[in-house]
Amino acid sequence: MSCIVVESRNELERLMDGLPPHPRPLSRKGRGEDLLSRSRQSLRYLPLLLLFAATTNSSAAEPTGRFKIDPRLQPLPAAAPAPADNPTTSEKVALGKQLFFDPRLSGGNTMSCASCHKPDRYFADGIDWNKGEKGVTLVRNTQSCVNVGFYDSYFWDGRAASLEEQALIPIETDVEMNQPLGELERELNAIPGYVEQFQKVFGEKPSRATVGKALAAYQRSLVGGPSKYDRFLLGEESALSASAKRGLALFQGEAGCIKCHNGPLLSDGQFHRMGVSEEDLGRAKWTEREEDRFMFRTPSLRNVAETAPYMHHGLFNSLDRVLAFYYNGKPTESTDGLRLEAPDLLHRPLEDTDDLLEFLKALSSEPAEFTPPELPPGSNNGSKTAAVGRP
Ligand code: HEC
Ligand code: HEC
Repeated sequence: MSCIVVESRNELERLMDGLPPHPRPLSRKGRGEDLLSRSRQSLRYLPLLLLFAATTNSSAAEPTGRFKIDPRLQPLPAAAPAPADNPTTSEKVALGKQLFFDPRLSGGNTMSCASCHKPDRYFADGIDWNKGEKGVTLVRNTQSCVNVGFYDSYFWDGRAASLEEQALIPIETDVEMNQPLGELERELNAIPGYVEQFQKVFGEKPSRATVGKALAAYQRSLVGGPSKYDRFLLGEESALSASAKRGLALFQGEAGCIKCHNGPLLSDGQFHRMGVSEEDLGRAKWTEREEDRFMFRTPSLRNVAETAPYMHHGLFNSLDRVLAFYYNGKPTESTDGLRLEAPDLLHRPLEDTDDLLEFLKALSSEPAEFTPPELPPGSNNGSKTAAVGRP
């Protein structure tokens, strides 16, 4: 079997040939290729070999008895915690939902949060870089809003400390929704349906602070249902396939993924320099600290199979590509001598990635049923009318 490993490694390296050597910046070319699944073609006889090994050698059979789960892995709680000054109520969530889907929150009344965070894509968008209202292309991949209530910092670089604070940033950023917050307050106060609801929920008229609170409450309500993985953690042994269980064993064992992908979100909420790219300064962009250069927050792996493309800049368009990145061997330093933290898995057999992939797929919850909100009628200056429902 070892010769198969070597062959597939060579195959992978050959396929990776078109890409610049590590450390990247990986150029945008060479994307769109499912490297590992192509290299896996050469492994198509592997299951037969394994079957043969399993039937002839009992030590290769599935381990029996209770699978030992690392205590750093936990199921997702049913509800996200809310801060004391913004308790979650159903009226507030309903108001936040309307705001999330209302294009009147943008400068030109054409773009809502849901233009990029799409309900049928686990509140991500399925593309590498989206565009703001003015047509300017962003440089980071849209994050999913499902389960965001469990993080304690926001954005790829952690520059927002709460969902309340985060929500106002895309609204006023000119390359996103391009709406000055004073103008936002003026517009919302001219819509009687909103004024009435803000009074009811907050006891005051629409303001930037209450808009942030309502949007935060809505996003805290976006909690995914239990995945196969959660059911397994809660004791349902058969919820994971044999391959996914081997993937979990690797994830918490030899592959070392658990070092950063742990806790209910499978994210430690910390910042790491993985060496995916040196084009974006990451956390150092706002901390301005040398040691934060190229650092990004560990992303949650929940629903990860549904939210391609991957990494802060959407560089990899399949999980196979992400796994190829981890299994392709790494330098230990960035070009300017900073320590890189991606695990070096060059010594591991490439077949690991089949099981890791099965495990990652088991982290998805069923897509939640979605009903678009009804938006309060009203127009501004008689010319701008809001589209009702899904953008
Ligand atoms: C033009 C596309 C676009 C629009 C519109 C948009 N977002 Fe985002 N969103 C993004 C991108 C891109 C990121 C990642 C940005 C970064 O890390 O710098 C992001 C990140 C986030 C995050 C952080 C998630 C995490 O895991 O830390 C939240 C929460 C969020 N957006 C909510 C909203 C809300 C609420 C609105 C509307 C007020 C909104 N977004 C409008 C593209 C968009
Ligand atoms: C040292 C910490 C660390 C370890 C160990 C680690 N990761 Fe990651 N992982 C990260 C960070 C940080 C990112 C985001 C990097 C970026 O965007 O530049 C990431 C990104 C990912 C993504 C992309 C998710 C998305 O939504 O874009 C996947 C999938 C992933 N890791 C899986 C794994 C697997 C599988 C392993 C084990 C083989 C692993 N990771 C090991 C920190 C780690």
